[in-house]
Amino acid sequence: MEIKGTGALTGNAGRQLVRILGIETSCDETAAAVVENGRKIISNVVASQANLHARFGGVFPEVASRQHVRTIFTIVEQALQQAHVTLEDLDGIAVTRGPGLPGSLVVGLNMAKGLALSSGLPLIGVNHLEGHLYSAWLYDVGLQPTVEPQFPLVALIVSGGHTELVLMENHLSYRRLGATLDDAAGEAFDKVARLLGLAYPGGPSIQRAAEDGDGRAFAFPRAWLEDSWDFSFSGLKTAVLREVRRLESSRLNLPVADLAASFQAAVVDVLVGKTLRAAKAFHAGEILVAGGVSANRALRQAIMSQAEGKVHIPPIYLCTDNAAMIAAAGTFRYLQGQRDALEMDVLPNWPLFELLSAAES
Ligand code: KG4
Ligand code: ZN
Repeated sequence: MEIKGTGALTGNAGRQLVRILGIETSCDETAAAVVENGRKIISNVVASQANLHARFGGVFPEVASRQHVRTIFTIVEQALQQAHVTLEDLDGIAVTRGPGLPGSLVVGLNMAKGLALSSGLPLIGVNHLEGHLYSAWLYDVGLQPTVEPQFPLVALIVSGGHTELVLMENHLSYRRLGATLDDAAGEAFDKVARLLGLAYPGGPSIQRAAEDGDGRAFAFPRAWLEDSWDFSFSGLKTAVLREVRRLESSRLNLPVADLAASFQAAVVDVLVGKTLRAAKAFHAGEILVAGGVSANRALRQAIMSQAEGKVHIPPIYLCTDNAAMIAAAGTFRYLQGQRDALEMDVLPNWPLFELLSAAES
């Protein structure tokens, strides 16, 4: 297939303006955003349900989908209002199709379908992980454009549900290097936080607790899985559990800060170590880190200070789930010619690597 609008893909000047509305409801954030040319954020509205799920210690799927139902209309309306646009000013509607919670994905997809049907605008189903990657191309209206990632690059996606190491040799093209064999990095943060009696979401809680702790206090295991680019975090989680039980049985007060810092240090070591090695092995000059866990300060500092080439990590507010990243990835897909049918269904287990690259489609 001929790739349309490659000028916009490569950032050439003189391109036409493409304005896409993004909608994201894959987990516990209801989000909508308007983005120009896949890069400039005109509006970005995120309603987090974290407080609602905190008492369950994790996302409660039915509570999440019902909350999306309640808020989606207002969030989309706000995104359009804040961008000072109506549907007539848009070129398309991009929406997260998966991976994610089925009942949550359905709410965003049906909202997008309704808007597409009433306006005649094209509908573009976006892979949530591709969205996380494209958050690295975004910048806020009124700010300088971001320094864009250059290919080939090695990308690390670390979120609540995924840990993926990817080689990107071009736009919309992904070669799978490795992934987690068990828990995702964010999932490990969330589970260990619960073990330590810290609030959901676990990542920010562990980061906060770790600030007063010593990362060398406990020698937790690092699963290097030599000769593989895969990750494993379940052994580390079990090691923390065993240590917590041992301390509790000896009626000692839990040194929560030291446990949190030592756990965080073990996760960061492996994530950074393997990503840097992969960049070298695949001759990738640059590194991209995205997804909720890339908001982690220790991870950001470690990879920035140890990498030889340029490292792209989105600002914190774009690391966690948002719709600007869905609009960004959706724009690149739109320019590639993707148009989806109104019959499109959600894909709760959609692997990133099933996406066809621009060259293959
Ligand atoms: O990308 P995201 O918002 O949602 C998914 O696609 O899953 O990622 C959420 C994950 C949660 O597991 C959360 O604990 C983790 O990202 N997270 C963090 C931090 N902020 C969010 N993990 C470590 N440190 C943080 N500062
Ligand atoms: Zn996410």
